[in-house]
Amino acid sequence: MIEALRNLEKEARDEVTLATDAKVLQDLKVKYLGRKGLFSSLSSRISEAPPDQRRDAGQEINRVKLVLEELFQNKERSLRSVSSVSVKKLDTTMPGTFFQPGTIHPLTQVVMDISRIFQKLGFRVVEGPEVETEHYNFEALNIPLNHPARDGFDTFYFENGKLLRSQTSPVQIRVMEKERPPLKIIAPGKVFRPDATDATHSFMFHQIEGLMVDTDTTFAELKGVLHAFAKEFFGRKAKLRFRPHYFPFTEPSAEVDVYFEKRDAWLEILGAGMVHPNVLRAVKIDPEKYTGFAFGMGVERIAMLKYGVEDIRHFFENDLRFLRQF
Ligand code: DAH
Repeated sequence: MIEALRNLEKEARDEVTLATDAKVLQDLKVKYLGRKGLFSSLSSRISEAPPDQRRDAGQEINRVKLVLEELFQNKERSLRSVSSVSVKKLDTTMPGTFFQPGTIHPLTQVVMDISRIFQKLGFRVVEGPEVETEHYNFEALNIPLNHPARDGFDTFYFENGKLLRSQTSPVQIRVMEKERPPLKIIAPGKVFRPDATDATHSFMFHQIEGLMVDTDTTFAELKGVLHAFAKEFFGRKAKLRFRPHYFPFTEPSAEVDVYFEKRDAWLEILGAGMVHPNVLRAVKIDPEKYTGFAFGMGVERIAMLKYGVEDIRHFFENDLRFLRQF
C-alpha cells in the first residue's frame, strides 16, 4: 500500500508539472484529489491492510495528501501569475503611454545645417575645449597681452588664469598644432563673453569657425566658399558683401554681410580673412609656403536672421511655445 501511495505521488507530480493551463490542472485535481479520485479510493483501502501495517500506511496517507494539496496549490498560483501577465500584455483596450516627442533645438538645427553644407565642400567638423588658456584664445592668434585688440574679446577668467573661450578661433590653433596642411575644418561650439544680456546679447552664444590652409589658398577661394554656403543656406538668390575690417589673426580681414530682400537690408553674418603669417608661424607652418583663410560666424545671429527671431533670449528660455515652432 505504501508503495502504491508513492507511485501515485510520483504520477501526480509528473502530470502536474506538464499541465499548462488552469482547465487541465482542474481536471487533474479531480482525478487525484476528487471525492472519487485516485487518492481517496487508494486511501480507503487502508482497511484491507494487515493490522500491523495500518499505522505506517495511515502516516503515509497523511503525508501524501499534504504533498498533493501543496503541489496543486503551487501550480495553480504559478499558472495564475503567468496568465495575468500575458493578459496585461495583450490588453488592447488600455490607453497607450503617450510620449511627447522632442524636437531638435533650433540652434542645434542651424549648426547641423551649416555643418552639412561645409562638409559637402570638403570641410571636416572638429571641436575644441570651452575652457581655454590665454595662449590659445589670444597669444597664438596674434593678440598680444595688453594689446587693445583684447578689449574686443572681453573674457571670463578663472582664478587659475584659465578662461572661458571668447571665440572659437582657438580651435584653429589646436588643429594646426597637431596636423599639417592641407587642412579644411569647421569648428562649431559655445563661446562666452561678460556682456549684459539684452535682445541681441547673451553671456553664452555659439560660433562656427572655419579654416582652410593649403599651398595656394586665396581670398578668391574664401569668397567662393562663402558664396556657396550663403546660396545653400539662405537661398539661391543670396548676395554677399565683403567690407574691409580689422581682426588680429587675419590680414586682410573683412566683415561679411548678407542681403535680405524682404527687409531690403545688408546684415552682418561673419568675420573672415586670410590667416595672418604670425598665426601660421605660431604653429610652425611656413607662411612662405602655405596660405590660408579663416572665418567665424555667430550662430544665434544667423538663426535670428533666417527665422525672424527678434530676441536672442528666446533660444535659452526653454519656452515650448517657441521651441515647437522649429
Ligand atoms: N573670432 C572672431 C570673433 O569672435 C570672428 C572671426 C573673424 C573669426 C575673422 C575668424 C576670422 O576666423 O578670420 O569675432
